[in-house]
Amino acid sequence: MRLSAQQARHDAVEVITAKRERQELSDSQIDWVIDAYTRGDVADEQMSALAMAILLNGMERREISRWTSAMIASGERMDFSGLSRPTADKHSTGGVGDKITLPLAPLVAACGVAVPQLSGRGLGHTGGTLDKLESIPGWRAALSNDEMMAQLESVGAVICAAGDGLAPADKKLYALRDVTGTVEAIPLIASSIMSKKIAEGTGALVLDVKVGTGAFMKDVARARELADTMVALGKDAGVHTVALLTDMSTPLGLTAGNALEVAESVEVLAGGGPADVVELTLALAREMLLGAGVDDVDPADRLADGSAMDVWREMVRAQDGDPDAALPTARETHVVTAPSSGVLTRLDAMAVGLAAWRLGAGRARKEDPVQAGAGVVWHARPGDRVAEGAPLLTLHTDEPERFERALASLEGGYDVEETAYTPRDLVIDRIG
Ligand code: URA
Repeated sequence: MRLSAQQARHDAVEVITAKRERQELSDSQIDWVIDAYTRGDVADEQMSALAMAILLNGMERREISRWTSAMIASGERMDFSGLSRPTADKHSTGGVGDKITLPLAPLVAACGVAVPQLSGRGLGHTGGTLDKLESIPGWRAALSNDEMMAQLESVGAVICAAGDGLAPADKKLYALRDVTGTVEAIPLIASSIMSKKIAEGTGALVLDVKVGTGAFMKDVARARELADTMVALGKDAGVHTVALLTDMSTPLGLTAGNALEVAESVEVLAGGGPADVVELTLALAREMLLGAGVDDVDPADRLADGSAMDVWREMVRAQDGDPDAALPTARETHVVTAPSSGVLTRLDAMAVGLAAWRLGAGRARKEDPVQAGAGVVWHARPGDRVAEGAPLLTLHTDEPERFERALASLEGGYDVEETAYTPRDLVIDRIG
């Protein structure tokens, strides 16, 4: 959004000082600061100070809503109203082994709702959807807007890289927050996620807000606050928005790592796969369908009858991937065995996520490459019995010198005990 000279009546120090003094920022201050920062008229050090003041002093609902609108207005908005079917999208706040987008997008498309998923690459321990899909030989993440629209019409689902045009203010601000200790501010997280999803133009949105050791939000109260804020922002913008709070104290499924997670997703599409991945995929699919106004299809039927798998294959082919090609595997493996016989009562999501990352599945800096075959496979889930000396985890990497640091991150990351195990609910709450 370009402001007229008359509107440009603020300066950065005034806006920073106002937030430092716990004042509410006015609409015009917010519009000005986002626009001026995007254009380079507000310097990074000034925006850092403002982000820190927001982290410490918070924002009112009106301010967050205006901040989100200003970030949307900094770039383009997509429009899917010309499609022949309704649209729904999902956003996860990020978890270990969270491959749900892969079976979910084709499944929802197989139920008659188009899924435009603009995704990112992973940074840190949770892994990015594009990194996972890029392990499929030939698969291409970059699509033009026209290609995306054509694929949505013909196949019904697209997972591709978000272009630079959506919410450029967020792109700049997110990179700044990453290096200034201001990522954790709920108003900034909520506006960052929602500005991109609203600009993307989806009609309905389901948010998977993860809670637990492997998630951004470690406790339910903060996760709920984030979910409430994002749901309110979506509704303000006319997007049908619902959030599920889901457990991320233990990783999802049985694999973390790019090609390993693609293989597990294909198992789910083939009607098998780990029960928790199937449960969450179906729960999110049902919410997406409801949000899009489709209540006469059961997604479980579309998994069972193979139609979700058909869409997956078309979706991969449409982006030049070969759904029949063998997936890459790591050159080296190392098996961790169970220390005693008993029940696996804990497998910590952060420990597994860090191990997968250290094995080469994730990156430390944006420009780092990832290994397609690297990652962790666990052979039991919490609640399963294991026998002393039997394989508990298998580590995969192309570079065996990585095993030591990966093993260090798994130390203390699991418990095998002779005790009763109480399972946790995967879906903790629904907000909407
Ligand atoms: N993901 C985002 O897109 N933005 C945040 O601020 C945090 C997670």
